[in-house]
Amino acid sequence: MKFESRIISLCFLVATLSLGANQARAQANEPLPLAALTQTELDDGRRLFRVHCARCHGMLGEGGEGANLKRARLTHAADDASLISIISGGIPGTGMPGNWTLDPTDLLHLGAYVLSLGQLPTEAMPGDPLAGSVVYQGKGSCSSCHILAGAGKGVGPELSAVGLRRNADYLRRSITTPDADQPRLATRFRGTLNSFLTVRVVSEYGVYEGMRINEDAFSVQMRDLSGTIHSFEKSKLISYEKDFGHSLMPGYGATLNATEVDDVVSYLMSLKGEI
Ligand code: HEC
Ligand code: HEC
Repeated sequence: MKFESRIISLCFLVATLSLGANQARAQANEPLPLAALTQTELDDGRRLFRVHCARCHGMLGEGGEGANLKRARLTHAADDASLISIISGGIPGTGMPGNWTLDPTDLLHLGAYVLSLGQLPTEAMPGDPLAGSVVYQGKGSCSSCHILAGAGKGVGPELSAVGLRRNADYLRRSITTPDADQPRLATRFRGTLNSFLTVRVVSEYGVYEGMRINEDAFSVQMRDLSGTIHSFEKSKLISYEKDFGHSLMPGYGATLNATEVDDVVSYLMSLKGEI
């Protein structure tokens, strides 16, 4: 915590030195608002974003593997200081990595660019979210594998705030061709695995297939199709396979028609953890 607040003060120091237009504010010892940065600094922020962030957040911040950032209100960043601290330190326990190579000026420019994304119009829904919730509960039987606002069970990731994490394209692919959004590479951040990887474990007690929750050199934890969590000691296993490119979720491309898919995508887009 101390370290982070030191980074932030350093940011303001750099800002004080580099932003002539805001010198009066800086002399008054007030933190500089990111919203006051110039167009040239925003352009630099966009350039840095494309290098460091676009592979997860999309070229235009529209989201993908990372959160959609084209929102007026960010969940983890209520103010300028928390935004800068997230960009430099990441969000522990999630897929958002820290970025220690960025210097304080980079952080300011990136922060200002992320803020400017929130002023863009949000993505339009392709269908009717209410009709989508009916498909979700009924024909899709999605709640047999997903938890949403405390209800449901099973192997899949919690979906209560999926609308903040994922954009429409990604959600459509998740539903129609789940194998396509399976991770190609496992990513590890501060000891937590962030990808949904299908694993198959054979032990002396039987065969287990499920979604990996965590793994280290000695053990692996996974959730099976019924939602039960298992933990295994690797040295005691007969075999352990990682099934990259295969999802335990069935593809709905044939079960649901185009309108139903649009409606479910819209329903998922509306899930922002505010229920
Ligand atoms: C490896 C993929 C990845 C990279 C690279 C990445 N992010 Fe993220 N980011 C994520 C994920 C996933 C989340 C959502 C975390 C959560 O809440 O579960 C996230 C969340 C965020 C949030 C918080 C959104 C909110 O609603 O509060 C901000 C801001 C952010 N990222 C900015 C950036 C910036 C700026 C960069 C580049 C320096 C970056 N990210 C690089 C994956 C990534
Ligand atoms: C048999 C279990 C099962 C069923 C039924 C199921 N899912 Fe999934 N779902 C999973 C698993 C496992 C994953 C994680 C692996 C992956 O991304 O494919 C997943 C991933 C997802 C994701 C991606 C989440 C993210 O943040 O990346 C979405 C969205 C999703 N499911 C929506 C749905 C919807 C909507 C339905 C119903 C139409 C549904 N699922 C039915 C098991 C299931």
